[in-house]
Amino acid sequence: MGGPPRFACRCGQVTRRKVAALVRRGAVSLEALGEACGAGISCRSCHPTLRALIERHRPAADPPPPRQLVLFDPDGPGR
Ligand code: FES
Repeated sequence: MGGPPRFACRCGQVTRRKVAALVRRGAVSLEALGEACGAGISCRSCHPTLRALIERHRPAADPPPPRQLVLFDPDGPGR
């Protein structure tokens, strides 16, 4: 057998798949994951793995609002 271990958190018996799904739904901190599924709240040795999964599966940030481009200011200099 190869690949990464099935559990992201052995203490909580929380799978990597479960953590990824929760992160995609907005649990993007260790605290949020702990509340959502109990991952990372015991020995904490899984925190590096949980942080890596958060970074990997975090939803993309909302794009910044478009900036308004002013080409001509009718009240500007020259009037
Ligand atoms: S392995 Fe996750 S809290 Fe212990």
